[in-house]
Amino acid sequence: MGHQTLAETTKSGQSESKTANTKKLFIKTYGCQMNVYDSERMRDVLAPVGYTPVDSPDGADLVVLNTCHIREKAAEKVYSELGRIRKLKEKSGGKMKVAVAGCVAQAEGEEIMRRAPVVDLVLGPQSYHKLPEMIARVSRKLGERLETDFDTQEKFDLMPQTRTVDGPTAFLTIQEGCDKFCTFCVVPYTRGAEFSRPVDQIVAEARSLVAQGVREITLLGQNVNAYHGAAPKLEADESWGLGQLIKHLAKIGGLDRLRYTTSHPRDMDDALIEVHRDEPALMPYLHLPLQAGSDRILKAMNRDHTYAEFKKLVAKIRAAKPELALSSDFIVGFPGESELDFKRTLEAVEEIGFASSFSFKYSPRPGTPGAAMPGQVPEDVKSERLARLQKLLTAQQLAFNQSLIGKTLSVLIEGTGRGENELFGRAPYLQGTHFIGDENLIGNIVSVEITDAGQNSLRGILSDG
Ligand code: 5AD
Ligand code: SF4
Repeated sequence: MGHQTLAETTKSGQSESKTANTKKLFIKTYGCQMNVYDSERMRDVLAPVGYTPVDSPDGADLVVLNTCHIREKAAEKVYSELGRIRKLKEKSGGKMKVAVAGCVAQAEGEEIMRRAPVVDLVLGPQSYHKLPEMIARVSRKLGERLETDFDTQEKFDLMPQTRTVDGPTAFLTIQEGCDKFCTFCVVPYTRGAEFSRPVDQIVAEARSLVAQGVREITLLGQNVNAYHGAAPKLEADESWGLGQLIKHLAKIGGLDRLRYTTSHPRDMDDALIEVHRDEPALMPYLHLPLQAGSDRILKAMNRDHTYAEFKKLVAKIRAAKPELALSSDFIVGFPGESELDFKRTLEAVEEIGFASSFSFKYSPRPGTPGAAMPGQVPEDVKSERLARLQKLLTAQQLAFNQSLIGKTLSVLIEGTGRGENELFGRAPYLQGTHFIGDENLIGNIVSVEITDAGQNSLRGILSDG
């Protein structure tokens, strides 16, 4: 309840102070959680210069498409959306400004400008702090319309330290970029080299979130467990790993739940595993992409570990935290993948058991080594393998959810559900959980006894107060 009142006060406070020159901002977000975070930060950067978020591009003064390049046709989706936006811009008499941000902007900035004249500015993920000055330049028709520099540190240093949030959960980027160069992945090219934010900066942002009623923070990074940010000022001039950072953040009063994503198996060190064992605020759920079960394919992917090593790591994590559940990412049809290789993936899934998973057909990304490899797998074979893998993963997910029936889980209530008097929240394993309860409970963590389980969600009965 507390958080709701706070959020409402902030919103009305904002609109009162900006009535004189309120401009409308529409941001459409594609792709991963980091893009969701980045879109929020763009809103924070633009608020002081008079922009208020709206829900539709129609009539907006500024439209931002925050794009994703990780898999197929992402760029094509952006071009077709730009076609629709063009009509709205014409309707506005050209007043509307259009920006393309995110990973497609980083990878194909010049081409976007050439192909879509409707676009006024293009900015890559490390340039969001420059949005106000870019808009000013475009309005005066002066200077560069394309910003795709790679200065991650400058971006974080120049972003506002405080955040405007709505609801009890939030994302917080602690690390960006990646040096792993998996051969299928475009991220090292679009997000740049690995960069970890200093601990003090992260703590300041976390405190600002908690002050607004946030009780659960998901720490984000493309390779989040490679985190090695500068230690707090009072400590020696060393860096901290993710385990140390989580222990420190867990001390913030009111911050009851922590999560992190996405991890690389290579960077899952003992210190972090110990924090899973010792820190109750760290949720017992870990997203740990395996991608494939065949060592030959893992090697071709440049994942830098074998299946046996992954299995050993999982055993160690499960020994430290028996109730921890795993989720993962898989790619089928990587170049050279034979039926036998694919069967190794199925066997790995059977052997380890995942509570939830994402699985994809390999999509050749321009400029990545995988795209040029021989042995590209035909589309129909990829589709057929994906269907077999997903059948298994879905069955595991349902079985895991059903294993929770009869258990009492802690649920952080995010809002109301669809049914009458129904509330909606998330269990420790991230499933959406529905139950009957009073709206006043929104923002609280309650105990819910699970009575029903589907593939994607749980249902239960409030079991306290
Ligand atoms: N093709 C298919 N899936 C991919 N992923 C990343 N790049 C590709 C690609 N080129 C998947 C991986 C990664 C997740 C975020 O997206 O499984 O873990
Ligand atoms: Fe991409 Fe993740 Fe591999 Fe980095 S570790 S290259 S982000 S898949």
